[in-house]
Amino acid sequence: MKIAVFSAKKYDQESFRQWADDSLEFSFFDAPLNQHSAGFAQGCQAVCVFVNDDLSKPVLAELSAMGVGMVALRCAGFNNVDLAAARELGLRVARVPAYSPEAVAEHTVAMILCLNRKLHKAYNRVRDDNFALDGLLGFNLHGKTAGLIGTGRIGVATAKILLGFGMRLLCYDIKKDQDLEKAGVSYVPLEQLWAQSDMISLHCPLTPQTQHIINDHSLAQMKDGVMLINTSRGGLIDTKAVIKALKNRKIGHLGLDVYEQEADLFFQDLSGQLIDDEVFKRLLTFPNVLITGHQAFFTQEALQQICQVTSDNLLAFKANRLIGNEL
Ligand code: NAI
Repeated sequence: MKIAVFSAKKYDQESFRQWADDSLEFSFFDAPLNQHSAGFAQGCQAVCVFVNDDLSKPVLAELSAMGVGMVALRCAGFNNVDLAAARELGLRVARVPAYSPEAVAEHTVAMILCLNRKLHKAYNRVRDDNFALDGLLGFNLHGKTAGLIGTGRIGVATAKILLGFGMRLLCYDIKKDQDLEKAGVSYVPLEQLWAQSDMISLHCPLTPQTQHIINDHSLAQMKDGVMLINTSRGGLIDTKAVIKALKNRKIGHLGLDVYEQEADLFFQDLSGQLIDDEVFKRLLTFPNVLITGHQAFFTQEALQQICQVTSDNLLAFKANRLIGNEL
């Protein structure tokens, strides 16, 4: 079976060659999938795509018309897929529901620690023989309150680490995790979470209900100087509202691994080019903002898991078997 792999970076190609099933024939394209690039899938029975590929109705229709029968997402989130259109067209869609929740949780905590103890500044200072501590003052996480929105796989993994730091945990989810409650977290209404948390981290999917869950209204209810971390999806945050909140000191620290308009920026080297996204550039001017380019998942263990599960999903489709991870 032939599969067109879009947004394929060198590390994707290496890991697919190392871990995917030999009977699958991959063609790798650096380009993201969209209406202009869909033609690369000509002659293929499946496409393999990532977080910022465009799987809107027109693109799906084009793929279906050229004989593609399956969309294999090599990620967990599927907010970029028009599932209703896929169903209408008879296209099967499968994902990798959990490649390494711990990888994302650990990156989340890395961002919290880096921002709090200002490691990004300390690193540069020491390299410049500047050993002064002014401006590097942090705070103990022990005894502080963390608010987690979404306690699925990644939220739970994050909660376990933060509990280990001795933090008090307030959580909000549309369904409770009873084991997590037994471990000591409290599920509370959103209003209480906004009002009492010293640090808030987002771990829910991007849906119409969660889009811009961080907005002027929710920010106004938060503690002054709150730390906000988003390793989930950019659209959870109204970025302009967050910039206002950074300017008026409502937000004390901001850590982002995702950004609403990241499709135009992330996963590529733009160091030699001008970036004309004024909102993103403004974010970068704040000393208390740390941005990483959607790398929370990026560990060896996660890449291996992504390949193996994607490969299993494709083999099930090829054999006309049920796909366990089908959407
Ligand atoms: P999951 O499906 O295990 O958990 C999501 C949780 O969010 C569930 O408990 C669900 O009930 C909850 N939820 C759904 N709607 C909600 C709402 N309206 N309000 C509050 N909670 C709600 O997903 P998982 O694996 O924990 O991933 C979470 C998100 O992390 C993904 O949707 C994806 O966007 C993001 N992600 C980011 C990565 C990165 O590299 N930065 C890598 C992998 C995932």
